[in-house]
Amino acid sequence: MPQILLSEGPSNGVRLLTLNRPEALNALNTALLEALSEQLDIAETDPETKAVVITGSERAFAAGADINEMASRDVVGMLEDPRVQHWARIDRFVKPLIIAVNGFCLGGGCELAMRGDILIAGTNAQFGQPEINLGIMPGAGGTQRLVRAVGQSLAMQMVLTGEAIGAQRALAAGLITEICQPELTVERAMAIATTIASKGPIAVQLARESVRRGADMDLAAGLRFERHAFTILAATEDRREGLDAFRNKRKPQFSGR
Ligand code: CAA
Repeated sequence: MPQILLSEGPSNGVRLLTLNRPEALNALNTALLEALSEQLDIAETDPETKAVVITGSERAFAAGADINEMASRDVVGMLEDPRVQHWARIDRFVKPLIIAVNGFCLGGGCELAMRGDILIAGTNAQFGQPEINLGIMPGAGGTQRLVRAVGQSLAMQMVLTGEAIGAQRALAAGLITEICQPELTVERAMAIATTIASKGPIAVQLARESVRRGADMDLAAGLRFERHAFTILAATEDRREGLDAFRNKRKPQFSGR
């Protein structure tokens, strides 16, 4: 049986994870989310992995939660849904997560993509929360992350009409940072991840945490968190190395200490 999640690397500090359920447009069933959780466990503890790229196929990043699996669950089944803990695992991941989207990025697929730190997409990408068409609503962060990413008016329109937006609209709305030719999307995501992987990993981790936490805090609390994180970095060898390299006009060699 083909693997539903392919893992490559790390190469230059970057691990590539590819969703691989083409027969269901990469619909996220429990097995796929579990495989993703397991790979993130591996990536997190592997010192050679500094960043992770998640992608799908050219036709679909992921067309949502697996509707067939969802249909078999009643309310108790939903309460006990094991996928909830896998979503939470993705949320807890501490290394940079770059998402490379081509094709359909719908429902749970869009909710997975929005868990990334940086999203880039192919010209053929379609982002949407079509759950309303099924008589349900987004249940893995769609209503919360979409409004933070694109603002209330567009989020409401997408969630309440179920209509998807293309890559250009997603770029204009701030959901993604770049648009590429579909065949170059993964390459570009890998290049961004490789750049990040070349930086000091402690500074990357704390800067990432500061940006992510700040989005959910008031400004004063966010600024306090940033200051504490900035201060902690004064204890690292990487800071000494970075400053020394600048002053001596050489390239820094970060050790992650
Ligand atoms: N779950 C399970 N199977 C899916 C799927 C999904 N989310 N999306 C597509 N598939 C399957 C189709 O059933 C089809 O399988 P068969 O060949 O065995 O019939 C195969 O993938 C190819 O799909 P289509 O033939 O439908 O391809 P298309 O190009 O005509 O249409 C599409 C593509 C518009 C994406 C359409 O497949 C579609 O609308 N998919 C469902 C999208 C959706 O509603 N997603 C939200 C799911 S709910 C959710 O995600 C909840 C949450 O918040 C966690």
